[in-house]
Amino acid sequence: MKKQDLRFPDGFLWGGAVAANQCEGAYQEDGKGLSLVDLLPAAEGGRWDALQDPKKAMETTYDYYPSHESIDFYHRYKEDIALFAEMGFKCFRLSISWPRIFPNGDETVPNEKGLEFYDNVFAECLKYGIEPVVTINHFDTPVGLMKDYNGWANRKTIDFYLNFCETIFKRYKNQVKYWMTFNEINMILHIPMFGGGMDITGVENPEELKYQAIHHQLVASARATKLAHEINPDNQIGCMLAAGSTYPNTPNPEDVFAALEADREGYFFVDVQARGYYPSYSKRLFKEKNIKLNIADGDLEVLRDHTVDYVAFSYYSSKLTSADPEVLDKTEGNVFATLKNPYLEASEWGWQIDPIGLRITMNEIYDRYQKPLFIVENGLGAVDKVEADGSINDDYRIDYLREHVREMREAMEDGVELIGYTPWGCIDLVSAGTGEMKKRYGFIYVDRDNEGHGTLDRSKKKSFDWYKKVIASNGTDLD
Ligand code: BG6
Repeated sequence: MKKQDLRFPDGFLWGGAVAANQCEGAYQEDGKGLSLVDLLPAAEGGRWDALQDPKKAMETTYDYYPSHESIDFYHRYKEDIALFAEMGFKCFRLSISWPRIFPNGDETVPNEKGLEFYDNVFAECLKYGIEPVVTINHFDTPVGLMKDYNGWANRKTIDFYLNFCETIFKRYKNQVKYWMTFNEINMILHIPMFGGGMDITGVENPEELKYQAIHHQLVASARATKLAHEINPDNQIGCMLAAGSTYPNTPNPEDVFAALEADREGYFFVDVQARGYYPSYSKRLFKEKNIKLNIADGDLEVLRDHTVDYVAFSYYSSKLTSADPEVLDKTEGNVFATLKNPYLEASEWGWQIDPIGLRITMNEIYDRYQKPLFIVENGLGAVDKVEADGSINDDYRIDYLREHVREMREAMEDGVELIGYTPWGCIDLVSAGTGEMKKRYGFIYVDRDNEGHGTLDRSKKKSFDWYKKVIASNGTDLD
């Protein structure tokens, strides 16, 4: 079959993705509390150090905080959603800012103004027939929960989270059907502040604390799934993994096993969320890391009985690993540093570009869980040049996306069930990793720079019309 003849199924959810903390701004408006991301400066200001040492981040005053105004989606969402509709979006993935609804995180009564904002955003989406796809917690745990409870390290956070879930499941019952409980749930292993709203500095066995927090999140995710199904049986609940298969550096069986173990690090989460129990290999993992989990009565039953409906994931790149510590030729990736793969090119930020890796990842995940997949992040972070006439010719982005869409379709021919595709940062927004604006992913350009200067005006890039055509042709016209 010619690749160009491949057609996506009717009802396929083409769209785009953003997260509240990276696009809304209005960081203290209408009663919003501080999100942990609001404490972070940009890369040059020390973002990475702050992420590793949340206490220091809380005590330091930085010159510039990219999230405070961001791209001001809070005030411009109508214009932005109209542009998404013009591209033909069938869905729009966004997150609800937890501290906008519960400013400190532990209140019992929600902030009505915050709820109204999302009423309006969802109504605007639905006006155009765009299905909202909502991430419940995308890196922005309220600072109050981090400060007063050490976030997910504390079991009490499960109840605060469930109160948040119940509030939004009930409020948006008639507007939202697709939910994800945690963005990139495996990120907690690498950046506990982002993933767990927690500080592990100075802790005797940080691995144990991380896995305890993970247990709390897994239980919270299962209980949220139960709640969502009770409130509306039509709800579809997904888990969300930062994915990307790991290749062995050589055919040496030791490298092959190292790759298998690296992948298990992420699949561990989905194994629990999609299959309903801790995987057999976790016994050895916990033994070797000297981890003893506190598991309360009823936790294992909840995990067993309330697995997710679909498996969502982000994919930017594959990874390469070696069992040999002497092999050191590394490059950057989505937080996970990886060895350089000589067969791949990389983005300006060192993230390796591997469309076939997406096909491999999709097949692996589907083989493992046999649940529908949803690719909720994918894309190329790049510097865009605005020409004198205002045009932005981002052919590199079109090339990246085209090749990934082709491989997606190949994976579907392989038998993988895929329900949708939402490229990351469909409108330029603040980078999570670096806090930069110049690392752009969007089809829509936003006039703002790394220091917060610019009009915030929106304009269409060349990729805007390309993606519009892709959606209109349901994936058959990729040229
Ligand atoms: C994912 C996150 O890790 O990758 C997003 O879910 C993030 O929040 C995206 O923005 C891209 O990473 P970065 O660092 O380029 O913004």
